[in-house]
Amino acid sequence: MRSFNAILLACLAIRSNGQQMPSGILGFNSGATKDNSAAKAQSDFKREFTTAQNLRGSPGLFNSVRLYTMVQSGTDTDPISAFPAAIATNTSMLLGIWCSGVTSIDKELTAMRNAIEQYGQKFADLVVAISVGSEDLYRVSESGIEKNAGVGQDADTIVNFIRDVRKAIKGTILGNKPVGHVDSWSAIANKSNSAVIEEVDWIGTDVYSYYERDKGNDFSNSTNVFDYIYESARNASQGKPVWVTETGYPSSGPTFGQAVASVDNAGKYWQEIGCDKLFGRVNTWWYTLRDSNPANKEKFAITDNLKTTAKFNLTCAPGSGAPAAINQQSKAPSVYSSPLLCIASALVLSLWVIG
Ligand SMILES: *[C@@H]1O[C@H](CO)[C@@H](O)[C@H](O)[C@H]1NC(C)=O
Ligand SMILES: *[C@@H]1O[C@H](CO)[C@@H](O)[C@H](O)[C@H]1NC(C)=O
Ligand SMILES: *[C@@H]1O[C@H](CO)[C@@H](O)[C@H](O)[C@H]1NC(C)=O
Ligand SMILES: *[C@@H]1O[C@H](CO)[C@@H](O)[C@H](O)[C@H]1NC(C)=O
Ligand SMILES: *[C@@H]1O[C@H](CO)[C@@H](O)[C@H](O)[C@H]1NC(C)=O
Repeated sequence: MRSFNAILLACLAIRSNGQQMPSGILGFNSGATKDNSAAKAQSDFKREFTTAQNLRGSPGLFNSVRLYTMVQSGTDTDPISAFPAAIATNTSMLLGIWCSGVTSIDKELTAMRNAIEQYGQKFADLVVAISVGSEDLYRVSESGIEKNAGVGQDADTIVNFIRDVRKAIKGTILGNKPVGHVDSWSAIANKSNSAVIEEVDWIGTDVYSYYERDKGNDFSNSTNVFDYIYESARNASQGKPVWVTETGYPSSGPTFGQAVASVDNAGKYWQEIGCDKLFGRVNTWWYTLRDSNPANKEKFAITDNLKTTAKFNLTCAPGSGAPAAINQQSKAPSVYSSPLLCIASALVLSLWVIG
């Protein structure tokens, strides 16, 4: 009977359409541009993904990235250069389709088809899921409008775009990837948006206690605020998996309500939210490794210039329930650790002395 139950559970984990729900994912978000608005090249993405996997004292391997668009910045339909960088570094991807301020997602879908053609199965194997949109419903909500969040999209349009994506992936190598939508916890909890929840396989929620100035957001209360907003999103999920697609705390920036941006608070938030509640238990894409949005006065990058040593201690305290620390040895490259480089530098030095 016990083994029958185990088999039954395993069968339930694989959904009827062959979808496999991923678990235990650790990653970061990555925008299409750098913080000076320049397009990221393949080498930029590769540097990010390499840093993510080599972070000193990291609680498990951060080898996943959440993207916001399939399209390379500055082009119409070229696949984003994050794709070959992910293939080169074995980084899994939560793909994004940009939905705000557009009447069609055809260009996104063309870039996706181009990626399938160009990179084939190596690309598909790394795709965790596809998100149709990012905070579109938040932008058209009361609080989004109040915070000038920009042009968004209504629930009916997002539902139609989700159907477009399902049609576009059907019969392709992405055909069995779970399709979802990412939004603020408040947009997910808003009953006006329940049609979107009905339409998806999973939900991604962006949860920041820092931005909740109406909820008592002094840092000392941030775990209570987090619990409230994350639970609000989960309560609205209609039983579908809820992933944390963005969370983090700014290490610098303005004071927001009672919330003070500081390296110290960013480090404590990593411990109290990341380590104690999420890492290894909930698929999580932290915000973030490298800042992208020049309009954001808050800076969230956990490290300067993609250094593998972060601004604060990433190792989770014992008993937190998070994965054990990896990359504990310093990986600082030394010329003398490589015999070839050592011989080469000796040669240069002796030529210089002789010269
Ligand atoms: C790529 O990463 C996955 C885990 O995400 C691992 O199972 C696999 O062995 C890795 N492949 C290579 C070639 O390193
Ligand atoms: C709920 O969603 C509706 C429809 O988008 C929006 O008009 C409303 O402002 C939202 N409510 C809140 C409290 O954000
Ligand atoms: C802490 O957060 C909870 C949830 O938002 C809120 O109900 C409570 O009033 C806050 N407490 C303080 C002291 O601000
Ligand atoms: C979530 O649902 C549970 C069970 O109905 C309820 O007790 C809890 O207060 C809800 N949480 C929030 C934040 O709405
Ligand atoms: C980082 O935190 C871990 C876990 O609390 C601790 O064991 C380790 O000594 C800390 N490392 C540094 C450099 O402070």
